[in-house]
Amino acid sequence: MRDFDEQTITQAVLTSFENTPDPRLRQILTSLTRHIHDFVRDIEPSFAEWRDCVDFLTRTGQICDEKRQEFILLSDTLGISMLVDAINHRMPEGTTETTVLGPFFVVGAPALPLGADISDGMSGEPLYVEGKVVSASGIPLAGATIDVWQSDGEGFYDVQMPERDNMALRAQFSADADGRFHFWSVRPSFYPIPYDGTVGDMLKATSRHPNRPAHIHFMIRHDGYEPLVTHLFDAESLYLDNDTVFGVKDSLIVPFEHKSSGTAPDGKAMDGSWHALNYAFGLKPAAGSVAASVASALAPAAA
Ligand code: BEZ
Ligand code: FE
Repeated sequence: MRDFDEQTITQAVLTSFENTPDPRLRQILTSLTRHIHDFVRDIEPSFAEWRDCVDFLTRTGQICDEKRQEFILLSDTLGISMLVDAINHRMPEGTTETTVLGPFFVVGAPALPLGADISDGMSGEPLYVEGKVVSASGIPLAGATIDVWQSDGEGFYDVQMPERDNMALRAQFSADADGRFHFWSVRPSFYPIPYDGTVGDMLKATSRHPNRPAHIHFMIRHDGYEPLVTHLFDAESLYLDNDTVFGVKDSLIVPFEHKSSGTAPDGKAMDGSWHALNYAFGLKPAAGSVAASVASALAPAAA
């Protein structure tokens, strides 16, 4: 193995991986080698540019710690996270589309009773959220676990407020016997993803903005079904058509209905402006589960 040129170097590297015992690892490294060599031949970097690439990735790693994951942010802003999501969630009819998890999910949010107010002093106009969790064929999933988290009316998550020492605008609920849940919150705002690191440098250098449209995150789980990680987007928000992480899907855009005073669905007398939203979430049966066998038995035969 010697005397490689701009073309033969690729085959030499491919040959070096031929004895990789794990076939999947061999497939991945082979494809990576082909694509990355083609990429380098395409851009023909100078030494200075290649050093800048290495430096960018080094700084990206150095920013990461247990609270900040700059590589995931890079994957999000390059559309890779949503591409992996699309490949892994080819969702059947009747199920809710998925989107990115994002960095602001926190394990161990308080389990609250249905109807609780999760705002705990965070800013924003009152928002009444009600929903239902069902199977693809519409069967209510009693007892489904619903994790919610969101920003406030100024676009901040609790974890971005060093002065706060307790969680807010996040909670875990259990659906009732009809698969229904409801809670009070505030109407979230659009907000910028963290842009004080290498991802921010990339966005600035490419004249991109760092914003995401206003949304509420949901993670919904029930035995026998795939966990559903998704958002509901405010139909009136800015940035629905240019989310910096490419996470918007039409089916997840909902009206946050405007209301003025009156009585809320839970009987609460309202004074001033508030909002309400309602959504039915459909879960996909987990592969190999009883729910999956029932769903495939009920599915119309392929033509
Ligand atoms: C979020 O919605 O919380 C989020 C998603 C991806 C990157 C940054 C933030
Ligand atoms: Fe978010």
